[in-house]
Amino acid sequence: MKRSPKKISDVRKYFNRYTTPFLEKYEEFIIRKYLKKGSLILDACCGGGRASIPISNMGFYVVGVDIDKKFINFAKKRFVSKNLEFYLADIKFFKYRKKFDACVLLENSLEHIEGSLVEVLMNISRNCKKNSILIVTMHSMFFPFTFMTLILFDLINLFKNPMVFESVHGVKFRIYNPFYIITILRKLGFKLLDVYNMKNSKPRKLPFVIKWFGWYLVLILKKVK
Ligand SMILES: C[S@@+](CC[C@H](N)C(=O)[O-])C[C@H]1O[C@@H](n2cnc3c(N)ncnc32)[C@H](O)[C@@H]1O
Repeated sequence: MKRSPKKISDVRKYFNRYTTPFLEKYEEFIIRKYLKKGSLILDACCGGGRASIPISNMGFYVVGVDIDKKFINFAKKRFVSKNLEFYLADIKFFKYRKKFDACVLLENSLEHIEGSLVEVLMNISRNCKKNSILIVTMHSMFFPFTFMTLILFDLINLFKNPMVFESVHGVKFRIYNPFYIITILRKLGFKLLDVYNMKNSKPRKLPFVIKWFGWYLVLILKKVK
């Protein structure tokens, strides 16, 4: 299929975005607060190592997994370090030789995975130790603007999971109900520790029900069973 010039530049932007190593302020804050230095981290759907590299530089052992060959080949060639490994794999089936102390699903990666989210989360859970930490970032469908868009998009199926959209980069993503994700994770033995709102700055904890109306959610969970 021929892409329009705009699409090609957007695809390039998408590639550069996920291959240029950097952490958003909120990611650095969360990682410092919840992850123990020296621990083994699964960067699920790592793209081209954008976050894996700075996390490994912070003193963690990072295993990045992505289904996209271009991203993984780029990461493998460009970023060689003794505390960093990259694998080309579908996160639904990936199995590592050890269990992880933590797993991060950054840049709303869950929204980019096709197919059953239950299988994805089950496999992540299988790869995690007891007491491990799981960090999931996602858009909230309850953010007023997102909610209005969903209503306009498909009023009848508003609460059906998921709603699929196409981003400017031509990449498909899905908007989930956060309670749907939390419910699956609870069944898999995870306990919700904290919820932050924000992106691109220091994360905030909003009180009570209000937090679910934020634009971007950072869920911190612990595997208790
Ligand atoms: C928005 S990018 C996020 C990249 C990275 N997490 C970051 O924070 O920079 C979403 C990534 O999910 C990957 N992905 C989608 N489905 C996947 C799957 N089933 N298994 C592994 N990776 C997947 C895509 O290839 C893409 O690199």
